[in-house]
Amino acid sequence: MSFDIDRIRANFPALDLKDGRQARVFLDNPAGTQVTQGVVDRMTDYLLRSNANCGGAFFTSKRTDELLDQAHQGMADLLHASSKDEIIFGPNMTSLTFSLSRTLTGQVDEGDEIVVSRLDHDANIQPWVRLAEDCGATVRWVDFDPNDGRLCLESLDELLCERTRIVAVGLASNLIGTINPIAKIAEKAHRVGALMFVDAVHYAPHGSIDVAALGADFLVCSPYKFLSLIHI
Ligand SMILES: Cc1ncc(COP(=O)(O)O)c(C=O)c1O
Repeated sequence: MSFDIDRIRANFPALDLKDGRQARVFLDNPAGTQVTQGVVDRMTDYLLRSNANCGGAFFTSKRTDELLDQAHQGMADLLHASSKDEIIFGPNMTSLTFSLSRTLTGQVDEGDEIVVSRLDHDANIQPWVRLAEDCGATVRWVDFDPNDGRLCLESLDELLCERTRIVAVGLASNLIGTINPIAKIAEKAHRVGALMFVDAVHYAPHGSIDVAALGADFLVCSPYKFLSLIHI
């Protein structure tokens, strides 16, 4: 089967944009992707025909609830989550991670430890550093080997202990592309009773994700980086 690039490009209205007569080249995908006409149509349809509060007894509210249900189910299917109730949408990964880290304050005490990695995006570090500061916990850093770009899992073994509450590691590095063995890391984290938080922002546009197989207690990704497309 041939890959019909022209047919695919025709789905993206932004590709018709010109600077004067010069066609544009979009190279900023990491900061956010262009959307298809289908995404624009679905959003327009929602704003024109639904656009209401949730949980009301009236028609547009019911349509809103229905669409939200479908969106949660679509994301659950994409991530192989066991239920749509496991899915939460938010402004972006950074905000969601900060919000989640706030909700975990009750589970982190003085003297506890949180593990982060030097291969991670700051959005998967600062929320945990702040949480540790607020709770009197200590942040432990897993290094990576500059020769092959892999996380030093042996040092993770040394860092993990019964005081470890959270292990926060990315599925793939946005800097150098390393794909981390999350299932293995999660197993180690769970062995000491810690929660496994996975930043899948960089990986999600490229590969299939199964949250259960990864052993993730929490997994975050950013649909605006994969064309805002989920199948509903
Ligand atoms: C690996 C990784 N994690 C997290 C983020 C932050 O994502 P968001 O913009 O959704 O907050 C980025 C953004 O580029 C990223 O590359």
